[in-house]
Amino acid sequence: MWTRERLSELIKSKLGDRLLIVVSNREPYVHVFDGDEIKYYVPPGGLVTALEPIMEASGGYWVAQASGEADNLVVNEASEIGCPPENPKFTLKRVFITKEEETGFYYNFSNGGLWPLCHVAYIRPKFEEADYQIYKSVQEKFADAIAEIVKDRPAFVFIQDYHFANLAKILKEKVRNVITAQFWHIPWPNSDVVRILPFKEELLESLLYNDLLAFQVQHHLMNFLDTVNRFLEARVENDVAKVNKGGRTTLVRSFPIGIDFEQVSRLSDSQQIESLRQELIRKYRLKDKVVAVGVDRIDYTKGIMERFRAVDKFLEKNPEYIGRFVFVQLGALSRMQIPEYRELNDSLNNLMVSINEKHQSRGWKPIIFARANHSKEAVTAWNGIANVSMVTSLHDGMNLVAKEFVAARNDLRGALVLSEFTGAARELTDAEIVNPYYIDGLADAIKKAIEMTPEEQQRRMTKMREAVRQQNVYRWAAKILSEIFNFEFVEYDAEVVDN
Ligand code: G6P
Repeated sequence: MWTRERLSELIKSKLGDRLLIVVSNREPYVHVFDGDEIKYYVPPGGLVTALEPIMEASGGYWVAQASGEADNLVVNEASEIGCPPENPKFTLKRVFITKEEETGFYYNFSNGGLWPLCHVAYIRPKFEEADYQIYKSVQEKFADAIAEIVKDRPAFVFIQDYHFANLAKILKEKVRNVITAQFWHIPWPNSDVVRILPFKEELLESLLYNDLLAFQVQHHLMNFLDTVNRFLEARVENDVAKVNKGGRTTLVRSFPIGIDFEQVSRLSDSQQIESLRQELIRKYRLKDKVVAVGVDRIDYTKGIMERFRAVDKFLEKNPEYIGRFVFVQLGALSRMQIPEYRELNDSLNNLMVSINEKHQSRGWKPIIFARANHSKEAVTAWNGIANVSMVTSLHDGMNLVAKEFVAARNDLRGALVLSEFTGAARELTDAEIVNPYYIDGLADAIKKAIEMTPEEQQRRMTKMREAVRQQNVYRWAAKILSEIFNFEFVEYDAEVVDN
């Protein structure tokens, strides 16, 4: 089994003197004011969930955009702060950008353009030349921040996601002796979709400055190779998943990302979470109710509208559940500067109100919509309460909410309704797999999940837990390192350890 300790040893032995630097747009700790005091919180989203434990295991640097109003007050003159703040294990280096840069880089090009392009959720992507220029200039700032750390030392830079499609190129033109790997956390669509991206040639060429480029699933990898084949003059070796371009070779791989299973599982078993569960059940009057739970950033790719509609349909079809079934949606507000996100937020609210009005009776409503940035503890408590966890993304690179639900169920109870369009569906084949575009099917899946016998729940949960436990985030990181540093990847299963 890959553990934090084993990964830590591996990193020390394979990296030697090489610095480890992780780069992402989202920072793992955000400092904000609470009255006169400064406090911090951990932002929502799969990327931070996955990388935080890796960084705790490896030490090194994490370079990310400053996003909290008090971020500048707690860093040193190099914009650095030890993290986790109360027990530092790695160094967070914050990159400060202006409001205009944030708009062009983060809101417009990354999340108004690349995000809908890659997810194909029928939201039209927008591409403006000015935004693309800002997108590149912000990456230039990140490259400068990395260069400040590296100086002349050898380094391994591990770049995250679609905010940094040009970074490997920009960085390698500034510093020598860096090896880069980039992980694309979101889907890579087929080449017909990429075709509409005006800057595709430059963007693809820049991505190919990486020594390794990795995707969540094989399907995205194939789409990428096909895209390169179609739009670039490059030698694509499909059989070994390598691209040769301009004298450089990029290995292209698929490595599904995971979570720290043991950490979630332990947390779920703690007294603190048990008390929280009891408190939530009291507060929301859920005793004796059948509870379904959804946990998402409020994003149009997550299929939250479809979920609400399915709850409506389920109650129409199964009136015996009126007064007995409650769906709790935890939603973190996200990217609210983008019109589509604001509209979604309003539409969800309206839909919830109309569904609740339609079905409500004597102090009972079918949908509770709790909009807030819920802590890891709160999410774990809700995962323990849920009879059913609903993950109905229209498209999702992986979706770690599904894996966290499974890890929290030490009692082997509960059922997972999981969209076939998530990366997670490839591994969690014992979930109730659904097509979220088909509301009738979704409504039937809710019924099937809540009426599943305890034996069946246990059988499926045991298998899913084994998958999530084995394919954890330390294994994911070890796989990436083994590819890039060219050593044999050893599966540490029980047999190997016994030998
Ligand atoms: C997805 C992306 C991440 C991103 C996260 C949260 O998981 O792949 O890169 O950090 O969503 O979104 P946000 O825009 O708040 O960082």
